[in-house]
Amino acid sequence: PVETGLRPRRLGDYIGQRKVKENLRVFVEAALQRGETLDHVLLHGHPGLGKTTLATIIANELNANLRTTSGPVIERPGDLAAILTNLEPGSVLFIDEIHRLNHVVEEILYPAMEDFQLDIIIGQGPSARTIKLDLPPFTLVGATTRAGLLSPPLRDRFGVVLRLEFYHVDDLRVIVTRSARLLGIAVDEDGAMEIARRSRGTPRVANRLLRRVRDFAEVRAGGTITREVADQALQMLDVDHRGFDRMDRKILATIIEKYDGGPVGIETLSAAVSEEKDTLEEVYEPFLIQEGFLKKTPRGRVATRLAFEHLGVPYRASRQLHL
Ligand code: ADE
Repeated sequence: PVETGLRPRRLGDYIGQRKVKENLRVFVEAALQRGETLDHVLLHGHPGLGKTTLATIIANELNANLRTTSGPVIERPGDLAAILTNLEPGSVLFIDEIHRLNHVVEEILYPAMEDFQLDIIIGQGPSARTIKLDLPPFTLVGATTRAGLLSPPLRDRFGVVLRLEFYHVDDLRVIVTRSARLLGIAVDEDGAMEIARRSRGTPRVANRLLRRVRDFAEVRAGGTITREVADQALQMLDVDHRGFDRMDRKILATIIEKYDGGPVGIETLSAAVSEEKDTLEEVYEPFLIQEGFLKKTPRGRVATRLAFEHLGVPYRASRQLHL
């Protein structure tokens, strides 16, 4: 991805997520002291919060090789067997979107995680036999947007489960300042703060907005990102003061205008705003919910008072909630 060059490589350079960092530091140091592999680690959190970055950092802190793949890429047991048998001892294997592994592949993973063993079935029917193959010891780092998407037997095989939260604005400001330095663009404290405030609690968004604001600053504003420059650039990008973009506002406006504030089912909403259901659920909704603009109810999505106010529509409490 575009932000590769901005990614921190060591835990000490990773900003925010204090609890996650503190925990990881202890587990990594203990594993190093004992000369053992680190227990398997599950990272879960919304897109863009740094799961891939952390996987890289874990490998670096362990002085280990990193092998990266993702759930949907591993189609057959043989694909996974090829990866596992080729690992250097002590490697970190990062499986992104691990909730998208298919069942057959997932079952190969259980003995591999537990005993560093591969159970290979040869032949079919009554003459089928299982051969056990020893694997080099490794640490599996799995990433998923929601821990609840994992089957319980897979989830239970991770010794370390870390949840990434949306970032505090102050942490995002530090991230923006660090990224600006790496990109060679001048930013003052208010300018960094303005980008941070409008980044949906998400470093990936912050870095993307920073790049666009940098373009604007260099071409139209003398090369320094101030609050005013950031504000002008973000307005041009249709990113509002809350950090909502056109799709965020379309979602809220649709619920309010077409469905009288909701509740409206996710399928219906997805069709109405022409956006994939999964993208709505994984990318857009989490931040709208966290900020209190949207609520999930058993009957569907409901726009809150904040959403009405944000769009300048007089508030009407959802009638169906009073039934
Ligand atoms: N870039 C992206 N995420 C980051 C983080 N958590 N700390 C520092 N830089 C980052």
